[in-house]
Amino acid sequence: MRACAVPAFASRLAPDGAVFATAQAFTTERGAAAMTEVKRIGILTSGGDCAGLNAVLRAVVFRAIQGYGWEVIGIRQGTHGLLARPVEAESLDLNLFTGQLLRIGGTILGTTNKGDPFDYPMADGSRRDRSAEMIEGYRMLGLDALIGIGGDGSLAILRRLAQQGGLNLVGIPKTIDNDLGHTEVSLGYATAVKVATDALDHLQPTAASHSRVMVLEVMGRDAGHIALNAGIAGGADVILIPEIPYRIDRVAEKIEALKGQGRNFALVVVAEAVRTEAGEPATQRQAGGALTYGGIGAYIGNRIAEATGAETRVTVLGHLQRGGMPTARDRLMASVFGVHAVDLIARGAFDRMVAWSARRAIDVALADAVATSHRVDPAGPLAHTARGLGIYLGDG
Ligand code: F6P
Repeated sequence: MRACAVPAFASRLAPDGAVFATAQAFTTERGAAAMTEVKRIGILTSGGDCAGLNAVLRAVVFRAIQGYGWEVIGIRQGTHGLLARPVEAESLDLNLFTGQLLRIGGTILGTTNKGDPFDYPMADGSRRDRSAEMIEGYRMLGLDALIGIGGDGSLAILRRLAQQGGLNLVGIPKTIDNDLGHTEVSLGYATAVKVATDALDHLQPTAASHSRVMVLEVMGRDAGHIALNAGIAGGADVILIPEIPYRIDRVAEKIEALKGQGRNFALVVVAEAVRTEAGEPATQRQAGGALTYGGIGAYIGNRIAEATGAETRVTVLGHLQRGGMPTARDRLMASVFGVHAVDLIARGAFDRMVAWSARRAIDVALADAVATSHRVDPAGPLAHTARGLGIYLGDG
């Protein structure tokens, strides 16, 4: 990655913030930008990471440089990079993406799911609105547009910044939770489902060898998509998701029924946001103070053991679902989203989010996407499939 000194950027800015340059200063891969207005776009990854982020950076860089002759600036650590002085950003070029990055998880730019710029936690414990500093950071980079890759929370923050500062923003949806509205698929989700399905593939033989009930706790925040999809694909007997209430006596009945059929093991998938029978969420205070979901698997495992007497073990899959090699599907979506996002900028279509719907890339109003949460439909086709397979999915 080529380091990109911010003061040099600043010196290239016209007083009104427009970016003009000589051919020498901004020679592009095609050499096409000579003596014309230079298109320089920024890109950042924001919120929790997931598999496929490097693949989408690659797609954006390939399309922007090869297709339009633009320069792409990668901003580090999500919006935090815009607060640093000098701004933490680097020029991303084609050579960076020739080999491995398509295939590996994480994000080379870094990311953060903390530090809302409008309510930023300061070292002294106070909170401050630092949005103006971030907008100033954006201006210092001389950007014509910004691609923000994020989930509902981070895209909502980026949109607010864009509205306040008049930034030309295009969003790309990513979240293993797949809970963003107006897109059938978000980046990282397919890989998370694969990881959770693989976990069930690993748990089944050991469950059968020891005649045990295996409980697998998966992520997904307030949506049960990972649990439902991996549960069906991985042959679960019970799937508990936050969208559908359950009864532990019915879970126990299901396990007893399996025993009655001669089965010596059972697989139970629990989404992290499932509540206890008393309606309490299971949460954990992380080092550093953040409160996250975690622990419902242990609760369900204990209740199953009490109710059935079965030997029960619990696995919490945790952040394994966010890492690893992106599946072919996630690499494909990354490529589709990256190219479409750059094309939107070329058309001057801002305040939009790229999306996937009915087998094609579309774009939707960013405001609509972040305002709508996509959760499992208890009466939807996959819930119907699960029930059709005899899986206990809650609901009495
Ligand atoms: O939103 C993605 C996600 O992985 C959720 O599924 C999970 O609840 C949360 O982030 C975990 O956050 P953190 O990385 O802060 O532990």
